[in-house]
Amino acid sequence: MTAPTTSEPAIRVQGLTKSYKTLHVLRGVDLEVTRGSIFALLGSNGAGKTTAVKILSTLLKADAGTARVNGFDVAKQAADVRESISLTGQFAAVDEILSGRENLVLVARLRHLKDPGKIADDLLKRFSLTDAGARKVSTYSGGMRRRLDIAMSLIGDPPVIFLDEPTTGLDPQARLEVWQTVKELARHGTTVLLTTQYLDEAEQLADRIAILHEGRIIVNGTVAELKQLLPPAKVEYVEKQPTLEDVFLTLVGDNGHNRNAGTNA
Ligand SMILES: Nc1ncnc2c1ncn2[C@@H]1O[C@H](COP(=O)(O)OP(=O)(O)OP(=O)(O)O)[C@@H](O)[C@H]1O
Ligand SMILES: [Mg+2]
Repeated sequence: MTAPTTSEPAIRVQGLTKSYKTLHVLRGVDLEVTRGSIFALLGSNGAGKTTAVKILSTLLKADAGTARVNGFDVAKQAADVRESISLTGQFAAVDEILSGRENLVLVARLRHLKDPGKIADDLLKRFSLTDAGARKVSTYSGGMRRRLDIAMSLIGDPPVIFLDEPTTGLDPQARLEVWQTVKELARHGTTVLLTTQYLDEAEQLADRIAILHEGRIIVNGTVAELKQLLPPAKVEYVEKQPTLEDVFLTLVGDNGHNRNAGTNA
């Protein structure tokens, strides 16, 4: 896939709105994702993360606003956008009866690529699945499946990949494996937009983090920038920078819970 010659960001979203009947989910979302970076969209359940990802991957139409992915308008150039992206979950129904390698070969064939066997073997190697490649997917662990899922979505080398909650439901070890995979993607120059509810995931992986709350991006910055939004913890505590979780909960509201003692001192 040839990227446009402009230095346009991989993803540019302006004034995106989307309602489901009377439920106003996105109320004017603006964001930009630099090429080759990892961008995390954080938000509580129901914040609209999946809705945003669906619009960016052309599965859903926005009510208003514009979104460009790899230089293409999601509404007017949907086919070009689709050729530029992949979305995990798209092939979530990995065929259990087939082996990991057979799944990869199948997708490469469906995409009419040359030498599907080599593509499969390269991806197995890159995702540390070579040894398991010949085994049926039904014998894979959750982490291995997720890695295969991501590997499958990379066939054809899309410049932009959307990962909607890539580690939900995985154990800590499997999460680490997926994190490695995602970092690896960015090292290869792929732009990654991931959604997550896990603050540590965003902190570990993302070059930039945006918090989606009540339909808008309320903050957008690096982890360091986000942490600067809160003063370091109070002096009665051991010196400690606020965690990203502190920043998140303060910004989106803590439902009245005072998690930090000291307010009643
Ligand atoms: N097709 C739909 N019809 C009606 N309401 C919908 C539809 N899809 C999503 N919603 C609602 O829109 C809101 C945002 O949903 P969305 O799935 O985008 O949130 P999310 O941030 O991905 O949440 P989660 O963290 O739980 O995955 C939710 O209140 C959801 O119930
Ligand atoms: Mg979601």
